[in-house]
Amino acid sequence: MFEERIRCADLRSRVMSADQAAALISDGMTVGMSGFTRAGDAKVIPFAMAERARRDPFRITLLTGASLGNDVDRTLTEAGVLARRLPFQSDATLRKAINRGEVMFVDQHLSETVEQLRTHQIGPVDIAVIEAIAINADGSIVPTTSIGNSASFAILAEKIIVEINLTQPLELEGLHDVYIPRRRPHRMPIPLTDPSDRIGETAIPVPPEKIAAIVVSEKADSASTILPADAETAAIANHLIEFFEHEVRRGRLTTSLLPLQAGIGTIANAVLSGFIHSPFHGLTMYSEVLQDSTFELFDAGRLDFASGSSITLSAETYRRVFADIGRYKSRLVLRPQEVSNHPEVIRRLGIIALNTALEADIYGNVNSTHVLGTHMMNGIGGSGDFARNAYMAIFATKSIAKDGRISSIVPMVSHCDHNEHDVDILVTEQGLADLRGLAPRERAAVIIERCAHPQYRDLLRDYYKDAVTHIGGQTPHRLERAFEMHVRFRETGSMLASTAEAAA
Ligand code: COA
Repeated sequence: MFEERIRCADLRSRVMSADQAAALISDGMTVGMSGFTRAGDAKVIPFAMAERARRDPFRITLLTGASLGNDVDRTLTEAGVLARRLPFQSDATLRKAINRGEVMFVDQHLSETVEQLRTHQIGPVDIAVIEAIAINADGSIVPTTSIGNSASFAILAEKIIVEINLTQPLELEGLHDVYIPRRRPHRMPIPLTDPSDRIGETAIPVPPEKIAAIVVSEKADSASTILPADAETAAIANHLIEFFEHEVRRGRLTTSLLPLQAGIGTIANAVLSGFIHSPFHGLTMYSEVLQDSTFELFDAGRLDFASGSSITLSAETYRRVFADIGRYKSRLVLRPQEVSNHPEVIRRLGIIALNTALEADIYGNVNSTHVLGTHMMNGIGGSGDFARNAYMAIFATKSIAKDGRISSIVPMVSHCDHNEHDVDILVTEQGLADLRGLAPRERAAVIIERCAHPQYRDLLRDYYKDAVTHIGGQTPHRLERAFEMHVRFRETGSMLASTAEAAA
């Protein structure tokens, strides 16, 4: 095993226990860990850290690519290890600690974290903890199912701990394309003009001396938690497929569309799966997370190539795909998230970006992060990187949440992640609003009539009419009423105007 996985003979003496390696991490440090939407995360060191912190408390700033697998953020939170956390998370226990003000969470565009580290605006990174399938003879590290921020964490950190994961197949080697933009002012354009272009190296280039410890792990990636499509997500997928067909008929797109990006979660996955029974073929993806739907589309012969930063699959799809990874490998590439999410590349390729909203307002501003304007859900993730720079930014949401007690279409978003200038298409199970070329007053009409749930349409129509009549303006609002629905939910448990309506 050692020869195959640790190809630099000098480094074999640095294999140690997780407790010994975790002892390199001390109070006040900034630690950069691999891991992007549950894939390729460090799976041993975090638990050794938590174990030690229970006996001997210490706190760190933890940076990752995005969210981590089962229990990692929870265990670190419960052990009190996390003082600061960035740039993304999706763990229920950590979320509560953030919302209690116990962990300082910095919610960042995923393309930006390593740019800020590289230019010393944040950081520095003391230690990087990187999951790998192997270390090459020159010390370079071959990542596993994600790259995320791992390459730059390793390059910028003072020391590196490598977790060699024996459950990750060596066949993954060659999947990665590690390209690191040069420092400014000498930066060159990123030479990527097609999702399938390979522009970098297959491993993270670091000198062997920087690798301070190697631990062996045998824990598999956590399975994705996406749910199967339901009636609403299927309806959203159908509206979008019809819309794309219409775009093809108008001559704006071909049946191969443009490279697709799909955000995390059930809705985006369901929409992509919807392409299986559509007239589209020769599709490509230039995305962040490759979910089950990517492999369903490969198998259905619809998808030609997929570029991402991680592969996050349900348990069943993971078994199927990894048993036969050779079949998919030539049609896949994993990149650092600053490249997968790079504004320059997204604009050049002309991405069709599909992300999910928690709520959207009648003018097309979108909140993806804050429940009722105050409480963090997960974070903005890559949605801002893609939406701002896409050929077309689509946001999808179910029109209601919590059994209808919440309307996802509101007069004014209680927190704005994506503003009206970036949002082109809004779609719910009720219908699709094409906002391109529409002024705010025109947007209000289509969003209320096509996207809002029927039980909330009168409330929204009434608000809009009142705002136009009494205030007017380019974007009419009655500020004293703008959050009436949110306040009512806090006070009564429903955004509906009366309990009679709630029961209807
Ligand atoms: N107010 C309060 N809660 C709401 C809500 C609203 N307007 N709309 C939805 N919710 C709740 C749902 O009820 C559900 O709650 P539950 O977990 O208790 O069941 C939860 O939010 C998730 O909603 P769901 O409809 O299941 O959507 P999802 O799993 O697709 O997640 C986001 C939606 C917005 C939370 C998720 O997509 C996200 O974090 N996005 C930001 C990051 C991102 O877009 N990254 C993309 C690049 S990878």
